[in-house]
Amino acid sequence: MQEKKRKRILITGAAGFLGSHLCDHFIQQDFHVIGMDNLITGDIDHIAHLFKLPNFEFYHHDVSKFVHVPGDLHYILHFASPASPIDYLKIPIQTLKVGSLGTHNLLGLAKSKKARILVASTSEVYGDPLVSPQSEEYWGNVNPVGPRGVYDEAKRFQEAMTMAYHNTHQLETRIARIFNTFGPRMRLHDGRALPTFISQALKGKDLTVFGTGLQTRSFCYVTDQIDGICKLLFSDYALPVNIGNPDEMTLLDMAKEIIELTGSSSKIVFEELPVDDPKQRRPDISKAKTLLNWSPRVSRKEGLEKTIAYYKTFFNS
Ligand SMILES: NC(=O)c1ccc[n+]([C@@H]2O[C@H](COP(=O)([O-])OP(=O)(O)OC[C@H]3O[C@@H](n4cnc5c(N)ncnc54)[C@H](O)[C@@H]3O)[C@@H](O)[C@H]2O)c1
Repeated sequence: MQEKKRKRILITGAAGFLGSHLCDHFIQQDFHVIGMDNLITGDIDHIAHLFKLPNFEFYHHDVSKFVHVPGDLHYILHFASPASPIDYLKIPIQTLKVGSLGTHNLLGLAKSKKARILVASTSEVYGDPLVSPQSEEYWGNVNPVGPRGVYDEAKRFQEAMTMAYHNTHQLETRIARIFNTFGPRMRLHDGRALPTFISQALKGKDLTVFGTGLQTRSFCYVTDQIDGICKLLFSDYALPVNIGNPDEMTLLDMAKEIIELTGSSSKIVFEELPVDDPKQRRPDISKAKTLLNWSPRVSRKEGLEKTIAYYKTFFNS
């Protein structure tokens, strides 16, 4: 019998939080999925269940070095990059390299395979924003030489390089500006507020709120994020699109909500605000609504309950 001709998709950062959910999604959609990761921040356990499948392959590879994938490729999702402050402050040069050299390598691969590529950008391209909510037309307020500059500028370069390939080589490119996302498999000890709060609450430790806690964030549940990314991939829109949940709240309120939902007896303690920590973060998702017919569907409470239930299994085992 002839082997079924599946569409082939390369997912970089496959062993990470978002990458592993994307691998699951495209396996469910009956694609041939090629995962690639150097495991610098990822966890192979996130994709271990896929290894037995004939339509899944994995390459342990650093995408900042030349990337070769034999055979056809129809789509590339470039998600490889350290993504949290603790990671990119520890490995600043690798962070800059994967956003610049890694992106260049993958754009070159997309060009040679005539594949469509979507790159994972971030709300951090807006830096510490002077306007709220942030629409795609806002150019941002980034300190290039501050500690967060290694991530923010790598992502800004990634967007510029992606647009250059689109304009120069007519490559089919997509840019997702991803806002804070949470859910099962996110890294708990990565310096981001929400996973840290969950981990502290489940361990019965005090929740550390930086500054006054009045700085805001907006959190999107992972299934909504994956849905938005897929809708953008299959759209015909090449300019950046915000994907996130505009449900904005202060970090202090988030800490209180997590204490309540976990039933923890933890208290809240305050520590000094890190350098260049954004004071507000809220996506304007008008573009995603109009162009992609996408908006988040999972409420914060439902998402938090699912996430807490997932992590409870680890803490109780
Ligand atoms: N999670 C979020 O809230 C969020 C928000 C904005 C943007 N993003 C972007 O989404 C992408 C994925 O983020 P995540 O939260 O899943 O992070 P993650 O750390 O869980 O996953 C990133 C993966 O990339 C891999 N990786 C890093 N450098 C690599 C390299 N040079 N070669 C091959 N693999 C490499 C890591 O090992 C890891 O598995 C990143 O590009 C990030 O900037 C995420």
